[in-house]
Amino acid sequence: MCGIVGHLGPQNSVDVVIEGLKRLEYRGYDSAGVSFISSDNELMVYKKKGEIANLISELDGKDIKARSSIGHTRWATHGGVNDQNAHPHAAPERGLSMVHNGIIENANELRDFLSSKGHKFESETDSECFLRLMLFHLDEGLDIKDAVIQSFKKIKGHSAFVILYKETDEIYAIKNGAPLVCGINDINSEAFVSSDPYALAGMANKIYFPENEVLCHLSPSNQNILNFYELNGEKSKRYTAKAQNMDHDPAAKGDYEHYMLKEIFEQPELIRSLTQFYFKGEGKDSLLKALSLPRKNVHITACGTAFYAGMVIKDFIEKENRIPCKLEIASEFRYRNPVLSNDELALFISQSGETADTLAAQQLCKEHGVKTLSIVNTEGSTLYRDCDANLLIRAGIEIGVASTKAFTQQALTGYLLSQVIKHNGMTDEVRNLLSGKLSLLAERIDNLLAREDEIKAIAKSIYQYNGYFFTGRGIYFPIALEGALKLKEIAYVHAEGYAAGELKHGPIALIDDQKVNVALVGPELFEKTVSNIQEIKARDGIIVSIGPKNNKELDEISDYYFGVELEGLEDLSPICLNIVNQLLSYHIAKLLGTDIDKPRNLAKSVTVE
Ligand code: M6R
Repeated sequence: MCGIVGHLGPQNSVDVVIEGLKRLEYRGYDSAGVSFISSDNELMVYKKKGEIANLISELDGKDIKARSSIGHTRWATHGGVNDQNAHPHAAPERGLSMVHNGIIENANELRDFLSSKGHKFESETDSECFLRLMLFHLDEGLDIKDAVIQSFKKIKGHSAFVILYKETDEIYAIKNGAPLVCGINDINSEAFVSSDPYALAGMANKIYFPENEVLCHLSPSNQNILNFYELNGEKSKRYTAKAQNMDHDPAAKGDYEHYMLKEIFEQPELIRSLTQFYFKGEGKDSLLKALSLPRKNVHITACGTAFYAGMVIKDFIEKENRIPCKLEIASEFRYRNPVLSNDELALFISQSGETADTLAAQQLCKEHGVKTLSIVNTEGSTLYRDCDANLLIRAGIEIGVASTKAFTQQALTGYLLSQVIKHNGMTDEVRNLLSGKLSLLAERIDNLLAREDEIKAIAKSIYQYNGYFFTGRGIYFPIALEGALKLKEIAYVHAEGYAAGELKHGPIALIDDQKVNVALVGPELFEKTVSNIQEIKARDGIIVSIGPKNNKELDEISDYYFGVELEGLEDLSPICLNIVNQLLSYHIAKLLGTDIDKPRNLAKSVTVE
């Protein structure tokens, strides 16, 4: 959602913060802003509606030199998208500014209270309450540290705050349930704070993950530039520290027009490195640790694309092991008072490891004594730190808001889990068999990607129709759902994912010669799915079929047929078909001229519920 960066140190802080914000813009791009202490000791604020480029133009030509600065990219929750509601919120005359990520649930109550005390609000945001609360406490005579602590204690909901205070030239940061990391560069005497370690890659050489309710203090005048405190003012040890070894290549998009395309093309290599990791590297132990957890039933919980990967994983685990799996959307699960027992396993799937609903579901399971396992991309994320065991998907940073490579890696990591359970470990024979299969998959995906132009041509033929039904049966049903999600989120067209056999129970009423049916057809339930295509064809729907190669039946029945080599990869065939979906959505969106990497209304990581 919102992105936060703060910096304190000898180099121009505003440059550092802007660089960090650029990296985080994929997380929220409604507006951006920065606050800093200028060389003539003024607290300055610049904020602009829209992409970060607008803020950069605003700063352009100004001679800015700052020792400390905080910045923010916004994904709006309370109040419209405009300059006024952009962060930082500030009281320059008091030398105070702050940024916020999350939701203040008792904002209305606080606003009423503060207004009754004469405080005037300048924005419609919930975040501004925190600024006014700090001013209220400063007026009472508290020092800044206590004002931050007392204000934080009055806040309900999951949030992270970063505060810049001119008087002492220091930055405070604190969180409850929202992502926050600190960093230092001990060579340059610099300290950083951010909502994402990625923003600090190549800048900080050590990263700290504070726990909830730990006050982080960045100050040039202390012996240590970064210190942690409990809310009672005592020094805190509730944080974990790790060397920052994440590389940041500023030209990471390379020759690709969009991150999404680059990430689609990374998939074969990532599959190869996942195999290495789990068969030859550190991953071996994490699979064995996962195997040691109870699993009478498995509760799988996730959101969005990760949820559809969960559907595929449920199928893998149930088919191979006959272990019952229940699958639920995290935002439903958390409020449903689910029946849980401690001989079960709770499996959470997430790219970011910071999705608020998934984290809440994980906490709920933990409170019920259920062992928790994650399939997660971001090592060190909240989910990663809170689960009993973790299986990393090793997808690297995913910048495109539309998740592509993470889906593939999640599904494959779940596949490996199901195989380890099946074989109660991993013999050399099984390892060889599986690595052979995954290397064949990588090779087949390479071949599919080389046929991008064929998919582009299909996209060109269908992009102007006025509705899309992605259909599939069995293990291809989640691929239909994922295909429709991808298309609607980046192309802004109406797309639905349906179980092919379910269409005739209602939605078929919508089929006419302006609707496209993208039919995902694999070896499983082939004939049944073809019958469903016939039903749509009979009602003049446009048929795009993605299915087994050289299939005469599919070729004849379809307006556009894309054949995929699936032999020897039957159980992994959903992953192959999904790659075609990814490219199809990408090219439709491109033809429609949308902002593919930053689709409207979305943010990469959904840290509010
Ligand atoms: O970080 P997570 O995997 O927990 O995120 C879950 C969803 O928000 C995410 O998959 C979302 O649906 C993507 N935009 C889909 O492309």
